[in-house]
Amino acid sequence: ETFDATGLHLLPGAIDAHVHYREPGYTHKEDWRTGTAAAAMGGVTTVFEMPNTNPPTATVEALRLKQKAAEKAYVDFGLYGLLAEDNLDQLEALIEGGVAAFKCFMGNTFGNLPSPSTGAMLEGFEIIARHGLRISLHAETASIMALRQKKLMEAGRTDPLAHLASRPAVVATEAVSRAAVLAEWTGARIHILHISSGDELRPLRDAKARGVDITGETCPHYLLFDENAYTDLGPIIRVNPPVREKHHQRALWEGLKDGTIDMIATDHAPHDPEEKTREVIWRADCGFPGVETQMALMLTQVNAGSLSLTDYVRLSSTAPAKAFGLFPHKGALVPGSDADIAIVDLGRRETIRAEALHSRGKITPFEGFEVVGVPVHTLVRGRFVMRDRKLIEEATGWGLSVTRVQAMPKPEPRHVDETTAAITGGKSGQAGSS
Ligand code: DOR
Ligand code: ZN
Ligand code: ZN
Repeated sequence: ETFDATGLHLLPGAIDAHVHYREPGYTHKEDWRTGTAAAAMGGVTTVFEMPNTNPPTATVEALRLKQKAAEKAYVDFGLYGLLAEDNLDQLEALIEGGVAAFKCFMGNTFGNLPSPSTGAMLEGFEIIARHGLRISLHAETASIMALRQKKLMEAGRTDPLAHLASRPAVVATEAVSRAAVLAEWTGARIHILHISSGDELRPLRDAKARGVDITGETCPHYLLFDENAYTDLGPIIRVNPPVREKHHQRALWEGLKDGTIDMIATDHAPHDPEEKTREVIWRADCGFPGVETQMALMLTQVNAGSLSLTDYVRLSSTAPAKAFGLFPHKGALVPGSDADIAIVDLGRRETIRAEALHSRGKITPFEGFEVVGVPVHTLVRGRFVMRDRKLIEEATGWGLSVTRVQAMPKPEPRHVDETTAAITGGKSGQAGSS
């Protein structure tokens, strides 16, 4: 069997540090099979999955349920454990049980998990810091948002723009600053999820300058939409934190270029059509799928000249691999990368169609977007999980937890001369036998 990659580009598979797969608990929105099929179709070879399922991944028992659900995965995955007010006594056991990182909800969102007090965060940070795992933060301050929303509701606002008004940038900026101070105090490694405003970049830059081990991500929707989206898309664009005004979008692009923002993740958050499109904005579920469309959307930006291909590789693969401890096995362009590969056609044009997505949640604000640059094959640890734009159905179950993959024995790099000999059909002659 031969494989022809003429005219294609070979990239390290994307590592999406932020997806919600809904199983257990909300499988009418998504499950591990559909969610990781979407990843495979999108050139994404590793995902980090969030704990706001039912039950939330706050105890070892809940972690076992999630590990069972994840046995269907097409791609590799890290599981987030929850850091909450009432599970500090579970954190060590979750680490022992194989979580790859922690998630802390400073603000309320889907799943209605209560946000921990600053004191509980501090204690949790101390415990987790001893083990070196990264803590990802949904950095929005619950108390300020509750007050804003109450006032808007009293004023009778039910329109989509009221969502933006209820979660102004100060809400996120205050939370980023507080998390960074706690990280500095405890030595914890932290990651700021879904940066949506230019204002958050200031405390992020400050913390980096002080030597805090802090990283940040933004998502395609903050880079590609602005406040006009509320008129065009109504409840479909409702997401936490909200898509904001144009000047924030511009600042995020700046932050990507100057290195303040380390990576691109998607906050893949599929919902059922009925729950997603309720007319009163407060009742429409927040978020939309993203893991399948990220690479095509961002390669389109590469083609448009907004981003270089090397910057894209850093943002989508190298940086998350470094931040979440996936070297030497996973991640871009380093010895020992374990053949997690996206093969892309930079010239291919497609129109994003929600109906064609593999995610169960079909409502996406990217419906109808014209993209140029599409992943055509995806390999996870050397095996095709997507080929010629088709899912390899029987690869379900191939995906493994990154904490297991990282523990596997690492191959010794061969001497350059030997490798060259093998490639050219010389003495050991293992390569090129297909
Ligand atoms: O819009 C969002 N949806 N933001 C979040 O933080 C959570 C996510 C979800 O799980 O639906
Ligand atoms: Zn979040
Ligand atoms: Zn999220």
